[in-house]
Amino acid sequence: MKFFLDTANLDEIRDVASTGVLDGITTNPTLISKEGNVFEDQLLKICALVDGPISAETVSPDASGMVEEGRHLAKLHKNIVVKCPMTREGLKATKILSGQGIRVNVTLVFSAPQAIMAAKAGAYFVSPFVGRLDDIGHTGMELIRDIVTIFNNYDFKTEVLVASIRNPLHVVQAGLMGADICTMPAKVFDQLLKHPLTDKGVDQFMKDWAKVPVIK
Ligand code: E4P
Repeated sequence: MKFFLDTANLDEIRDVASTGVLDGITTNPTLISKEGNVFEDQLLKICALVDGPISAETVSPDASGMVEEGRHLAKLHKNIVVKCPMTREGLKATKILSGQGIRVNVTLVFSAPQAIMAAKAGAYFVSPFVGRLDDIGHTGMELIRDIVTIFNNYDFKTEVLVASIRNPLHVVQAGLMGADICTMPAKVFDQLLKHPLTDKGVDQFMKDWAKVPVIK
């Protein structure tokens, strides 16, 4: 299972990358807007910190605009993956860009039929948003189970990138279901590696070790 960080913040990325288990980054227009930097400059700074797929989102309303933006973004760095929204226009753009060898992450996916359409259009990643489904009273992770099953049934090569993750349980369930990637905020990443019994154990070992005579 690959771990991506869902942020455009360089401090967060640096910190998590230092653990050695970070595989990539997802950004979106909201996350980019928080950093107050020129879009392309921020992307290049992120690319310098993480050697893995870095998703950058298009914002044009129509396919031709998305294709133009996608080509521009893909030229910035070899690791950039172009994000297109799961709209009719986004689907057309996905087909064109992926046909030109540009990797596309189809984002804002909220149903299994949408995921199938994205895979058929040649998406490299498909991003179902589990937290936003939970927010409106659905069980987001049921969508992941459906998509993974369908993709396996037809041997689709598109990777399932679980997005809008809100807690460690989403990650555990994604693993049990066989999803390829989880993208998460830094807070969830921290929650994943922590356990109170680990902290308690380390603390006890340190206290006991302090009583042991050692040759300095
Ligand atoms: C994924 O690519 C998105 O940027 C992200 O996971 C959205 O998450 P949110 O619902 O917490 O905004």
